[in-house]
Amino acid sequence: MNTPPAGLEIRPIAIPRTIGDADADDFIAMTQVRNLVYAEISGHDDGRMTPAELLPNYAPDPAEIRHCWLVLLDGEPVGRIGVDVPQEEGSRVVYWLIELRRCVWGRGIGTACYALVESTARQHGRRVLQAWAEHPPAPGERLQPPTGFGSIPLDHVARFLQHRGHQLEQVERISALDLRDGLPRVRELCERATEAAAGYRTVQWRLPTPPEFVEGYAWMKSRMNTDAPAAGLEFDEETWDAARVARADAKIVDAGRTALVTAAQHLETGDLVAFNELVINNDLTEATSQYDTLVLSSHRGHKLGMLVKCAGLLAWLDIAPRSPRVLTYNAEENRPMLDINEAIGFEPIGYEGAWKKVLSDPSTAAAADTAGSSGSSGS
Ligand SMILES: CC(C)(COP(=O)(O)OP(=O)(O)OC[C@H]1O[C@@H](n2cnc3c(N)ncnc32)[C@H](O)[C@@H]1OP(=O)(O)O)[C@@H](O)C(=O)NCCC(=O)NCCS
Repeated sequence: MNTPPAGLEIRPIAIPRTIGDADADDFIAMTQVRNLVYAEISGHDDGRMTPAELLPNYAPDPAEIRHCWLVLLDGEPVGRIGVDVPQEEGSRVVYWLIELRRCVWGRGIGTACYALVESTARQHGRRVLQAWAEHPPAPGERLQPPTGFGSIPLDHVARFLQHRGHQLEQVERISALDLRDGLPRVRELCERATEAAAGYRTVQWRLPTPPEFVEGYAWMKSRMNTDAPAAGLEFDEETWDAARVARADAKIVDAGRTALVTAAQHLETGDLVAFNELVINNDLTEATSQYDTLVLSSHRGHKLGMLVKCAGLLAWLDIAPRSPRVLTYNAEENRPMLDINEAIGFEPIGYEGAWKKVLSDPSTAAAADTAGSSGSSGS
């Protein structure tokens, strides 16, 4: 067992009410270290957020409990830990992250942090641990998920996860679309999709969701976890109502961020059946993120995915004309979605691994827990 460095401190982060509050220092430090780690891994700054933009994501939410810790070495912030515990009935899962500055890797800090992740999962009675990690291009041995789609280098992070009992379940492609050419291809694709989607029309709104769309949007959001390719990962079916939509909207709107939803409406029934979300931070010259896109399974085959994506992008040119590019994440086996993205002009810029571990039954794991916890500096 490696002992973590003597100057290691893992400190629970109190969530401040506002970033101006006296107790906001650790939250601010956590955001800064998050941004640095993402830039170190991806080589670009598109994932950055200001502390004020990140804060609403940690507002109290009955849908999930969020734990987070700041990792300090000799008093300097070097990383963060997060464990999110969804509150869906019967949930077995937690989503976790450990993000450390590269300069401190390989010294036993990740191992100490990981002990806290597992003990937190067990405290909540959860046995399925899932995490996503970006794996930058590297030479040498590669790892394939059981889906057979995509691969990642067997790098430091992959080894760390494997040696702690996690399995690579899915590879996600990170793609980027250059917005600076005004999207000529997208106009044509949008026209063709509109012709193919007779019987539907697009509707658009900026968050917060207008009352007339809340019910339909809530239903589509609840299908994200059931209708998207999940490989061997475990996702709870989520219940979405108006209150949950309002809380999700607030996470973006309260931070002053802008989100555009483009949905397809089935004319015969009035139902919303497909949607796409584009989101940008306060600084409209930053990169845009594409959040969820989904066509309900009963309405596939009418080019609705292409329609909502293209209509969204074209409207986006007016909302954030100086945003240089859009980033999106897709399962490598999600060919229908990748076909749409590739036709639009998205190009791969990186790959993430989705990792999962199922903990042993608590009744047989007591001995293992006792051995594992000695490496943790706790909180
Ligand atoms: C993945 C990550 C958390 C690992 O953290 P880390 O501090 O490098 O991990 P450790 O140092 O504890 O362990 C790494 C290896 O170094 C070894 N090690 C531990 N202490 C050591 C020491 N003092 N000297 C030399 N090696 C040591 C460990 O045994 C381990 O080897 P193993 O995997 O074969 O068991 C870190 O690389 C990271 O933050 N990556 C970016 C974010 C990310 O991808 N997170 C993962 C999913 S959210």
